[in-house]
Amino acid sequence: MTRKLYIETVGCQMNILDSELVVADLRKRGYEVVGNPAIADTILFNTCSVRAHAEDKIYSALGRLREAKQRDPSKIIGVIGCMAQNHQHAVFKRAPYVDLVVGPGQLHQIPTLIDEIVAGGGRKIEVSLDRSGGPRRDVERSFESYDPLRDETMRPSRYQAFVRIMIGCDKFCTYCIVPKVRGPEQSRPAAHIETEVRKLAEEGCREITLLGQTVNSYRHTDGGVTTRLSDLLYRLSAIEGIDRLKFVTNYPKDMTQDLLEAVRDIKECSHYLHVPCQSGSNEVLKRMKRNYTVEDYREMYARIRETVPDFAVTSDFIVGFCGETEEDFEKTMELVAESRFKNSFIFKYSPREGTKADELWPDDIPEEVKRRRNNDLLALQNQISFEDNQPFLGRAVEVLVEGPSELARKHEAQAHEVRAHGSNSSDENGEAGAGGAPNADGASNADGVPHDHVHGPLQLVGRTNCDRIVVFDGNPRQIGRILPVTIYDANSFTLFGEVVTEHVGPEVYSISL
Ligand code: 5AD
Ligand code: SF4
Repeated sequence: MTRKLYIETVGCQMNILDSELVVADLRKRGYEVVGNPAIADTILFNTCSVRAHAEDKIYSALGRLREAKQRDPSKIIGVIGCMAQNHQHAVFKRAPYVDLVVGPGQLHQIPTLIDEIVAGGGRKIEVSLDRSGGPRRDVERSFESYDPLRDETMRPSRYQAFVRIMIGCDKFCTYCIVPKVRGPEQSRPAAHIETEVRKLAEEGCREITLLGQTVNSYRHTDGGVTTRLSDLLYRLSAIEGIDRLKFVTNYPKDMTQDLLEAVRDIKECSHYLHVPCQSGSNEVLKRMKRNYTVEDYREMYARIRETVPDFAVTSDFIVGFCGETEEDFEKTMELVAESRFKNSFIFKYSPREGTKADELWPDDIPEEVKRRRNNDLLALQNQISFEDNQPFLGRAVEVLVEGPSELARKHEAQAHEVRAHGSNSSDENGEAGAGGAPNADGASNADGVPHDHVHGPLQLVGRTNCDRIVVFDGNPRQIGRILPVTIYDANSFTLFGEVVTEHVGPEVYSISL
């Protein structure tokens, strides 16, 4: 009997990639992916622990399944990913009807664990060692993941893919749970990455986004030869079929000149850099243990502007961190005003158990102050993003067409009354969430384009080389192509355009009968 899997993903690109791999593994074993938990016999939540809100949402979703599980105890409910590693057995305490808890380092065990549960083996938990749970090499091994399995139908788009080049983090910023739940920093061998990208290119993938918590700290030594991110970019850009290369997330201290020069000189590199700053105040940065000052960040930013002047730079900021004064916050506002980031992701500080900040300092900034600072910084950034987008009016930009826009998808879903398979939801700040895996019940292909879409223009979405979102009317055949689009309107987040009409000379068709 075919098992029916429903999977929901929250959090960052790493999680989206992990879900793709879990689905690939389960599909290989005959599972069918469905878009509705009510008709699934296996329900998995791939979870995030970066902020409390993301975890709360999962416990609410689990709460909504309690009755369904009582009605049908054969349904298997699993919590996988960061929250599984973070809460471990506590997940069973809060939601006793959960059958499966699997950390990010054990995802490859999911099919076997489900088989054991189905066979009556009771609930299962598999997580990695704690950071202090043994010698470093043992801890590292317990976090190793299984990247070569790919399933193109579970990607947001067949033409784009995430490729992990590092796992874990050793920076231990005091607010951050990632080093605990994702384990020690480890770079993958360059040869493995190259093989994976080559395979993706053969499948028709044109854009690769390299992933790492501090992706620019990538460093791998093999046979005495060390490969840095810049070297890796050169190797990957030589692969036939790869037109765009991106990488996230950068750590400011590791933004080396060789890397900036590589992204300047490699034509496949997107003109886009995400380099989170977190705060404009030295006192706060020090308590965050970011290992740089605002002056260091400014110096790095100036180097980016000097080396790659037309690159779009984006950042992350946390407001309301322990002890953040009004003066500290004003310094963040000043930095944002002066830097004119293309975009900033702004988060209210959320204390995380097991982090240094939570151990050392009270979460002393009241919620309404956090909210106000969040809104003020967001308003400033939105104004900058709006102004930054205006020069695009009337210009033609090159867009890699990703698929139907959110709006087009909603319309299609309503028209067909089918729900998309395997939904991905972003967390409270719209972070990550590179869109769902659009694969409706028998009605869609890997691009989420309904097979019977024949009438009128379809609203499409794509991105420029500098990672700006462009919405325009087109047709499904344009998906996966890089097209010139002329921009006629722009708000803070989106450019609106029209495909530049290609004038094709007279063509002669000969039909042989
Ligand atoms: N509270 C709020 N935001 C956080 N981030 C990481 N940890 C926390 C936390 N405890 C933010 C940082 C990081 C982004 C992915 O999430 O800005 O860059
Ligand atoms: Fe977290 Fe800091 Fe590592 Fe980023 S660099 S994942 S914020 S500990």
